[in-house]
Amino acid sequence: MQGEIEAIVSSARSEIASAGELDALERVRVRFLGRKGELTLLLRGLKELPAEERPAAGQALNRAKNEVEGLIQARREELEEGSLEVDGRWDLTLPGRRPHSGSRHLIHQTIERICDIFHGMGYTRADGPDVELDALNFTALNFPDDHPSRDLQDTFYINDEVVLRTQTSPVQVRYMREHTPPIAIVAPGRVYRQEQPDASHAAEFFQIEGLFVDRAVSMADLKATVLAFVREFSGEDEPRLRFRPHFFPFTEPSVEVDLWWQGKDGKGAWLEIMGAGMVHPHVFANCGYPEDAYTGFAFGMGIDRLAMVAAAIPDIRLLYDNDIRFHRQFPG
Ligand code: DAH
Repeated sequence: MQGEIEAIVSSARSEIASAGELDALERVRVRFLGRKGELTLLLRGLKELPAEERPAAGQALNRAKNEVEGLIQARREELEEGSLEVDGRWDLTLPGRRPHSGSRHLIHQTIERICDIFHGMGYTRADGPDVELDALNFTALNFPDDHPSRDLQDTFYINDEVVLRTQTSPVQVRYMREHTPPIAIVAPGRVYRQEQPDASHAAEFFQIEGLFVDRAVSMADLKATVLAFVREFSGEDEPRLRFRPHFFPFTEPSVEVDLWWQGKDGKGAWLEIMGAGMVHPHVFANCGYPEDAYTGFAFGMGIDRLAMVAAAIPDIRLLYDNDIRFHRQFPG
């Protein structure tokens, strides 16, 4: 009996291994485990054995049956996955499995997109520190000492002279102090404000600053640049833009730019996308430029806002919560 069982199991092993498709595997299963299968018949014949041989034979048969079932199951999974060793060799024609790789944060994807568009217009990228001098974040940008946004409420002071920058605008001053025009830069980065967080406010967010300085730069250049950028970013040939008069200490005149954003649901809204204006002569003076030598424009955009609109994200906190299920929706 033992010898017979071993012979059956060993032929089952080789037939299972060489079953190249599910149908063939099913035939092997029927041959060994079906109603008239070789192992089934042996099990059924147990009762004809002498009583003292029955337990040992029963155990051996059950072990054999379990082994054959296990092998069939494993082979079935292999065939179903389509992977496989055929005849002990790898099937190299099967597609590989793509290893999991991470991706850049949506904010950084958006920064890269914006920078790419400006690179196309001849801009280079500049940088400044997050921990900034009050003198550059405010004073050199022509903020009067008693301007409300210098209030302690508005930002995080390290000490009287050092703040977490509230805007990327101080990069303008840093850059102009080191370079003479013509200048065309964009400066993306993190900024900080003492905000009560809600769906559209965070105490930390991202801006991108732009600065263009040369001789005889006009408001028309600013408008054309904004239009060229928005065309690229929105993919629309004739985006609807609105320039509203506004106030910033470091530009004169100053504007806020709104874009008409048509939602996929058919609803549209004016969306404030940037502050901008012509660089104030006091700022040039604070950077050591001779009087009346240069003109230029500057702009500042909220990156989070653009990312949220482009990807229909309802709450800014989703960008910072680091929930991997959220971020997986934006591979890239
Ligand atoms: N720094 C401004 C803010 O955070 C945005 C801004 C407005 C930047 C006008 C500019 C500009 O460069 O010209 O609100």
